[in-house]
Amino acid sequence: MSRPVPEAAWQQPHLAVDFLDRRHILLPLLDVQEDLIRRLLTRHGRPIERFLDLGCGDGAMADLVFDLPGRADLRPEAVLVDFSEPMLERARARLTEHGGRWETRRGDLNDPGWHQGLSDGRFDAVVSGLAIHHIAAERKRELFAEVLALLAPGGIFVNMDYVEITGPLRGVFDEQMRANALHAEHERGGTRSAEEVDFEDNEDRPDTAQDQLQWLREAGFEQCEVHFKWAEAAVFGGVKPVAA
Ligand SMILES: C[S@@+](CC[C@H](N)C(=O)[O-])C[C@H]1O[C@@H](n2cnc3c(N)ncnc32)[C@H](O)[C@@H]1O
Repeated sequence: MSRPVPEAAWQQPHLAVDFLDRRHILLPLLDVQEDLIRRLLTRHGRPIERFLDLGCGDGAMADLVFDLPGRADLRPEAVLVDFSEPMLERARARLTEHGGRWETRRGDLNDPGWHQGLSDGRFDAVVSGLAIHHIAAERKRELFAEVLALLAPGGIFVNMDYVEITGPLRGVFDEQMRANALHAEHERGGTRSAEEVDFEDNEDRPDTAQDQLQWLREAGFEQCEVHFKWAEAAVFGGVKPVAA
């Protein structure tokens, strides 16, 4: 059985709504990253008939997969997982147009039981956006192995996430988020300060992209790549070997 979902910031409706309402404004280079993920999933070539969205929020990543170009004939099914009921509520509202082809599941990725009831080898793709950095290193390693098991041979895992970096660019992602929020505030004539518009998320546990690639390889993924990197923003993942 899954453990009870703990109280966390993301389960507070105000934080969920604040993030979702400003996601496109706040996140640096989001359009570029989403465009790259579309190209990656399309060029990977494997038809996506069934996929998982981990830490789905309002289902933005799932929406991206449903709307992949050139796949009008494919009507994928999706399972969206999040431990925040306010987020899942927003996902159900957002995805109504894809009616009947998805289910939402309340689950905590910190709990190895989160995938109970999902069959191994069933998913052609697993996507995740800005969620896995909330879990600790050791659990990330286990999660990558769980994701590998859930994927069908040849299936792809793509994670758009916030990663740890060192050196002079450390903190640039957060700085840019604050600048984006302040710019949007001024554009609409608001007068709130940088501190007031800042997005509060104190539950980050990022690890470096290099470490996570290594953990993906150790889990058994191949074609492990960092597809995109800008300061703390990264898109990375791997493919389940066909012969696994
Ligand atoms: C920054 S939001 C991103 C949401 C969405 N994937 C997106 O790209 O907009 C992070 C999401 O991860 C979820 N999350 C964080 N930790 C989680 C956990 N341990 N288990 C399940 N979901 C989690 C939060 O509830 C939230 O919906």
